[in-house]
Amino acid sequence: FSAFLTDNFGRRHSYLRISLTEKCNLRCQYCMPEEGVKLTPRGQLLSTSELLTLARLFVREGVDKIRLTGGEPLIRPDVLDIITELRKLEGLKTIAVTTNGINLARLSPKLKDAGLDLINVSLDSLVPAKFEFIVRRKGFHKVMEGIDKAIELGYNPVKINCVVMRGLNEDELLDFVALTEEKPVEVRFIEYMPFDGNKWNFKKMVSYQEMLDRIRQRWPNLETLQAAQADTAKMFKVPGFSGQVGFITSMSDHFCGSCNRLRITADGNLKVCLFGNSEVSLRDVLRSGASEDELLQIIGAAVGRKKKQHAGMFSISQMKNRPMVLIGGALRDM
Ligand code: GTP
Ligand code: 5AD
Ligand code: SF4
Repeated sequence: FSAFLTDNFGRRHSYLRISLTEKCNLRCQYCMPEEGVKLTPRGQLLSTSELLTLARLFVREGVDKIRLTGGEPLIRPDVLDIITELRKLEGLKTIAVTTNGINLARLSPKLKDAGLDLINVSLDSLVPAKFEFIVRRKGFHKVMEGIDKAIELGYNPVKINCVVMRGLNEDELLDFVALTEEKPVEVRFIEYMPFDGNKWNFKKMVSYQEMLDRIRQRWPNLETLQAAQADTAKMFKVPGFSGQVGFITSMSDHFCGSCNRLRITADGNLKVCLFGNSEVSLRDVLRSGASEDELLQIIGAAVGRKKKQHAGMFSISQMKNRPMVLIGGALRDM
């Protein structure tokens, strides 16, 4: 495994998240401010060929999983071509996408044909009016249709990401678990995290322990499953249900020790930690005509600066970072 992608704590970064766009067709409250965010001018975004050049280099150095994020990755016009091209990379085992699901019913057959392996869908409420309040747009039924279509195409499990916020959707925990009775989905409850412009505060966060206690009151026989190394989620299952339930505990119990992730923002910055604010522009290095070796040196130096773990709940909430929509769907590596 490449020394350039191994950090000072021995973590091997084999999972790359690439943001395909800063744009989104929703305005989720926890992700961006109501008025949206200031978008980077087009010419400063990575072109498809630059993006593929970087992907090729990272895969050659040992990345075996690429997740496409956003903004909303499925609104990038050439998303299918990008997946088709990635599919040709030898060594890349898994191509995944994290989507809000709005365009999924329409696009999933084509995504499958292009070679997409895994689909994660964000869904924070099962009540249409509440969904629309949280995402500040319409589209609940489209998302549900998208999830069903993906299941029908054989994606198993489809992962459903649910950011739990106090006073907003915390009353739906049991309904989300009940969804796993018939559907082969993995519902993942995510602790609400602070990012620029999302008005996070400690009281709005519902901790893993609290969620688990509430679910156990209804299903005392909830079974603990073994999570794969470097997985973000702690996994459970109600015996007899077809799907599973997970918790992403970025705040209360970070998983930095097993972090294997790097991310590239739509404007071409390498970000070695979701919560880190030190970034390096790979776009500028590419455009300066640097050789692959020079590029690798710069990547390796950035990975070398990666901290052991994120700075803790309080510091993160005070930190200058991008809003989530400009980072690329959720964190994980701290
Ligand atoms: P898989 O494990 O590949 O299924 O995906 P994932 O869970 O990493 O990706 P997804 O895009 O579905 O993100 C779900 C949640 O994981 C996000 O809301 C974040 O809370 C968390 N997450 C993703 N990436 C990171 C990261 O780099 N650091 C931290 N701390 N959390 C992350
Ligand atoms: N806290 C927790 N999760 C978040 N996501 C976006 N913003 C936040 C936040 N502030 C999640 C979305 C999406 C994933 C990529 O990141 O639910 O599914
Ligand atoms: Fe869009 Fe995803 Fe952010 Fe919601 S969480 S506004 S769907 S990028």
